[in-house]
Parts: sequence; C-alpha cells; structure tokens
Amino acid sequence: MRTQIIGSGFVTGEHLVTNEQLAELMDTSGEWIRERSGVETRYYVEEGTATSDLGAGAARKAIEDAGIAKEEIDYIVFATMTPDHYFPGCGGILQEKLGLGHVPALDIRQQCTGFIYGLQISDALLKSGQARTVLLVGAEVHSGFMPWTKWDYLFGRGGEAPTAEERAVCTRFRDRTVLFGDAGGAVVLRAREGEHGLLGFQVHSDGANFEDLYVPGVGFARRPYVSEADVREWRHVPEMNGRAVFKAAVARMPEVVRELCHKQGFPVAAIDLLIAHQANLRINEIVQRSLGLPDDRVYNNIQRYGNTTAATIPIALDECRKSGRIQPGHLVCFVGLGSGFHWGAALMRA
Ligand code: ACO
Repeated sequence: MRTQIIGSGFVTGEHLVTNEQLAELMDTSGEWIRERSGVETRYYVEEGTATSDLGAGAARKAIEDAGIAKEEIDYIVFATMTPDHYFPGCGGILQEKLGLGHVPALDIRQQCTGFIYGLQISDALLKSGQARTVLLVGAEVHSGFMPWTKWDYLFGRGGEAPTAEERAVCTRFRDRTVLFGDAGGAVVLRAREGEHGLLGFQVHSDGANFEDLYVPGVGFARRPYVSEADVREWRHVPEMNGRAVFKAAVARMPEVVRELCHKQGFPVAAIDLLIAHQANLRINEIVQRSLGLPDDRVYNNIQRYGNTTAATIPIALDECRKSGRIQPGHLVCFVGLGSGFHWGAALMRA
C-alpha cells in the first residue's frame, strides 16, 4: 500500500500587490526585492478573510479534483502558523465551514515544513488503517503581521499615503514583510495498492535557535499573553535573523534530500522534480546547485506568490500536477525548512 495524492487545489488572497506598490509604504525598491529574494508579486486577503477561509477554498478545489464526495473525508490535518485564533486551531473551524461532520481535525505547527510533516502524519494514519481519506491543508494569512494600516492606499482604493512615521515603521520591518503572501493549498490522500505514491520521509527539528525566527511578544510565557506595550513596541511582528535562516536553509535542505535519497536507495540524480519550499529564490538556486540538478528538474513559483509558509508546497504541487510538469512515474522530492527550526523531505513516485 502507498499513500497517493488523489486531488489538489489552492487559492490565494484576492489582492495582487507588486513590489512597486510596497515601495509606496516603505523604503525599498522592486529591484531590491526581486534581486535579493526573487519575489515579484504576492497576494493579500481582504480584512476579515481568515486562514480557515483560504484553507476551505483550497480544500473545496482539492475535493472536486479528487472526484470524491466530501462525506468520504474521515480525517483533517491542518498546518498553519497564522491560525484564525490563538486557540482553537483551524482544523475544526475548517471542518465546520465545509460541513464535514464530526471527523477528527488535527492542527500542526511546523511552519514552512508543515506540509511535509502533514504528509508524514497522513501517510501514517492511512497506512495504519486509522483513516481512509485524509484532507491535508496548509494555509496562511500573513497580512495580520504587517505593520502598516494603510491597506486601502496599498490596494489602490484611495485613502491617505502613510505618514513619515508610519513609513519609518514599515522600513524597520522591510526585510521580512516583503517576503510573505496569503494563500491556502490542500490535497486529498488515500492509500492504494501499487508502486505509485509516497515512498518515505526524513524530518528533523532543532529548537536550539528558535529565536532566529519567532514572534517574541505574544504567548503564554508572558502575563498577559498579549499586552498593549508589546503591541506598541511591535513585538507581535516576527523577529527574523535573515542571514541565519538563509545559512540554515542552504545547508539543511540539500543535506536532508541526500539523507532521504540514500535511505530510499536512489541517487539524487534520479529526482525528476524537486519542489522546495519557496522562501527565497537565491536559497533555492543554491540548493539546486548543491544537489547538481538541472533547471528543468526544479520548480519555483516564489516570483508570483512570495513565501506562503505551509501553503507553498501544495500550491507548487498543484501547479505541477495540472501543468504536466509531474508525469506518471516521475520521482518527485519535496523539501522545506522553517521556523522552529523544522526541516524535512518527502519522496513520491507519481
Ligand atoms: N528593501 C531594501 N533594502 C532592504 C530590505 C528591503 N526590503 N530589506 C533589507 N534591506 C537592507 C538592509 O537594511 C541592509 O542594509 P545595510 O547594508 O544598509 O544595513 C541590506 O539591505 C542588506 O541586508 P541583508 O539582511 O544582508 O540582506 P540579505 O541579502 O541577507 O537579504 C533576506 C535579506 C531577503 C531577508 C535574506 O536574508 C533571506 O531571505 N533570508 C532567509 C529568510 C527566510 O527564509 N525566512 C523565512 C523562513 S520560512 C518560515 O519558517 C516562515
């Protein structure tokens, strides 16, 4: 028995925003963002749209693509770092929004590696017979982290330009805000007889340097867990040591791909398509070079969506399935690294 992806789908926030539009809010340029990160555009939701809404939109498409009735889903796994509420998680909210009945809904928090951990959990649930049809969702609304208030101005709907003071705040956080976008991706998984499907996983975590990428000012290590002073001092915006994350990504991602290929008995050169997390195009170019893979065996779409954390890999997967980049028999490798730090890879025979 192997776990197969029988359906996939994704949605983005409804507002497409270019680098040049962001330069209206902060001291940056389209060129800087494109050259340093690869990002050209990203999508943001309208205020009021939550992560569970994007997850539900993606899930509806994945269920339709799978050609199954929604009643056939008997387990939900939801990966996000931007849940609608501090608690409960998004899984149950999505279940209610989709009318899936009282099926179990599990929330996981592995950030950019959430989808890979989610695949591993789903595979274990299916192969142990505890579920027959799993809905795995990765979705994020990062726009709640953004330090600006002039959304109408950004979306070109009028309103006032930011003041010099507001511009200075946005500039202070420009290294991270320009990277992220809002989106949701989903897959439907089933175990079937045969050689096609997920072959194996290699995942790791290392909590030692979690402060290189985390939200310092909201959480139950504090009393109260969110305070006016924390918000005033912008401690609800993620702190990121960009260079440390970059260095970890270019070391860990090729390493874990090699480790998994070795464990599964494949040379790295047997990979037909590498779908890596999309945090920075420069990271992915270094990973590609390190693995010695040619351009036609690597898929990147960060240019259009930015980093969508747990949604990234299912979006790229859906695009590759539907555009024919993934052909039957292809060996597909997923790899990611994110806050925590968590990193990992999965291999799939399409
Ligand atoms: N526009 C213009 N200038 C900027 C911007 C911006 N958006 N951001 C930073 N700069 C400036 C800096 O202030 C600095 O200026 P200085 O030299 O005057 O001090 C200069 O550009 C260079 O800054 P660096 O931080 O050295 O730039 P770098 O080339 O490292 O790129 C970046 C920064 C894009 C953040 C990069 O380090 C990176 O992508 N790191 C990985 C981040 C990542 O992957 N995060 C997500 C992980 S996924 C998850 O778990 C959610």
